[in-house]
Amino acid sequence: MKRILPLIALLAIPFLTAHAARKPVVIAVETAHSALVLKPSADGQLMMCHYGARVADPQEFAAWNPQRRAGQGPWAYPAQGGMYMDEPALAVRYADSYRNTEPVYVSHTVRPQGNLVTTTVLLRDTLTALEVRLVYDAYQAEDVIVSHAEIINDDGQPVRLVRMASSSMYIDADRYLLTHCSGNWAAEMQVERELLTRGMKVIETRRGTQVTHWSNPSFMLSLDTDTFSETSGEVIAGSLAWSGNYRLSFEKDGAGRLRILAGISPFSSEYPLAAGETFTTPDMVWTWSGQGAGQASRNLHAWARHYGIYGGARLVPTLLNSWEGAYFTFTTKTLTDMIDDAASLGLEMFVLDDGWFGTRYPRNNDSQGLGDWEPNAAKLPEGIDYIASYAHQKGLKFGIWIEPEMVSPRSCLAEEHPEWVVRAPGRKIHEYRHQWVLDLANPVVQDFVFGIFDRTMQLSRNIDYIKWDCNRTVFNFGSDYLGDAQERFYIDYVQGLYNVMRRIREKYPDVLVQCCSSGGGRVDYGALRWFDEFWTSDDTDAAQRFKIQYGTSLFYPATVMGSHVSAVPNHQTGAVTPLKFRFDIACAGRLGMELQPKRLTAEERALADRCIQSYKGYRDIVSGGDLYRLASPYEGPYDALMYVAEDRSRAVVFLYCTDYTNRDIGGKPFRLQGLDPDRKYRVKELNVDKSCWNGDGGTYSGAYLAAGGFNPVLYRTYESAVFLLEVQ
Ligand code: GLA
Repeated sequence: MKRILPLIALLAIPFLTAHAARKPVVIAVETAHSALVLKPSADGQLMMCHYGARVADPQEFAAWNPQRRAGQGPWAYPAQGGMYMDEPALAVRYADSYRNTEPVYVSHTVRPQGNLVTTTVLLRDTLTALEVRLVYDAYQAEDVIVSHAEIINDDGQPVRLVRMASSSMYIDADRYLLTHCSGNWAAEMQVERELLTRGMKVIETRRGTQVTHWSNPSFMLSLDTDTFSETSGEVIAGSLAWSGNYRLSFEKDGAGRLRILAGISPFSSEYPLAAGETFTTPDMVWTWSGQGAGQASRNLHAWARHYGIYGGARLVPTLLNSWEGAYFTFTTKTLTDMIDDAASLGLEMFVLDDGWFGTRYPRNNDSQGLGDWEPNAAKLPEGIDYIASYAHQKGLKFGIWIEPEMVSPRSCLAEEHPEWVVRAPGRKIHEYRHQWVLDLANPVVQDFVFGIFDRTMQLSRNIDYIKWDCNRTVFNFGSDYLGDAQERFYIDYVQGLYNVMRRIREKYPDVLVQCCSSGGGRVDYGALRWFDEFWTSDDTDAAQRFKIQYGTSLFYPATVMGSHVSAVPNHQTGAVTPLKFRFDIACAGRLGMELQPKRLTAEERALADRCIQSYKGYRDIVSGGDLYRLASPYEGPYDALMYVAEDRSRAVVFLYCTDYTNRDIGGKPFRLQGLDPDRKYRVKELNVDKSCWNGDGGTYSGAYLAAGGFNPVLYRTYESAVFLLEVQ
């Protein structure tokens, strides 16, 4: 270990004396309404004074007393070592096996670039040459702060990063109400809520891939309350931008304060950092709202649309996906008929899902063929280009499904390259959905996976959209390529995936790419940097979807939320819901259909026509507007939400009766939000001949609609309504 105490002493002493004499250092990371305030303590350790409402003069925090006791306190990025005893953001194992790090403040810079102001704070260990750069990107208008850490090993020796959180917050409130989402396959994003008690609450995954089915790396904390409010109170929300193992911890300490740490899970990942190397953590996206959870969601959504999602500002086409309508059983004619039907319904894209590839091991069910990405000429003799061009001739875009990170044991690829499979020597390679995972930590496999995308795009000039799937997690992990550095696997896999996506985006900047992972198994802002949207859930049952979509909406905007109308009885749940209800649920996201249109009756087709047509008229509000959640399906019997266009001239309101309670509840007033109180809106229910609201077709002030004057009558289970509001 290179001991550099004299250098640090030289650096620290001028800082301490100079700043004692002059103005003390106070670092304010500010947005339009929020501020994160940091300052070095007298002994140079960086402390977090505040994250909350913006204050007029953050320099006043010079007076703030850091309340630091042995073991606990407001360290901004606490390291294992020194006086800190709680879970650290940073833990380093040095070459000599010692594990103490005591970073002190060295300097900071502030770089404004329009809406984005970047503050970088440099810390350096008091003994070694290990440095930490804390980077805070403050998005002014959105009230979002995106932060990450860069850990720089300037020491002459390699070290191991035992823990390396992206970001840390230390909050002081009377109560902390945590809201987060957990679930399962086909039941993602179920909302969980709990008041934190002393000790630690951890949200973590160790699954390697497909990490968000069971929990999502996002949360909201309502402060000083035990009630979740959409419209009032302080809320801190966060979302980690990482598609691999993650860990969010909430540790309420002896003083009742809360330490939040967010980052890559340390599980089996003592990451080696060679001399001279830098490790950059994933981004943690934070927002603060002084007006409840609704504003926190709107902040995240606005940031995501402008900065967090690849192609977040573009309108995604309505589509027909072949999966639930045809599964693996189709001919060219099946597909061209579906294209004809999609065109006549006014849909804008056809997506050919699983089942089009594999020659020696044709993919006619899910037991084989992954890895062999040549079209199955026996099944589709006319080829993919014929089908894609057919779609284009009918005025539709064309998309196609791939699952490039995976290999079936029954495939030519598995026979040719067993060394590319994630496996541990001598151990069984467990199957899941009859498939294995390819080792994306290996650059040769990254080339191969990039090649799958690239070759698929070459199948036709008319491919506009790729559905990228990832249908399993990692068991018994092991990488032939990593040899004796297995601890790199989980991190290098995700970085390998991002490398592939970077190359894809360099070559194919305009192709739409959907992120699917057996539905919502990869819903995170790390993936969304490269993908245009995600497939929210394989559960297409509208009677389940409202809960999934509500949970998703807490953190992710509607523009990325793929929502499809499917057949009844629903293939996952067996439930039967009205077609109108299915449309009204799907239209609150990116609308698609996933059924065999031929099986629709004439009456159903007419309703579908009408719903698709009207959706096209307001989808810009869904995908680009501000979301207001009016009622929660978790509190029943209504789910209600609205999107308001940025200029507040238009809005669309979705109301769903999710459960029957009693007839007197029909006619319940919904207080609309986000409208201009002084402007008059014409209110029109869509897709019906007779509205469920007496006042339908009339013109009302925003103030009246906000006061509860809007009270449509919905009382039967699965009755629903969509209203369009337009300023007159
Ligand atoms: C996953 C996806 C589905 C479908 C199938 C195909 O389950 O989530 O939408 O693409 O794979 O095998």
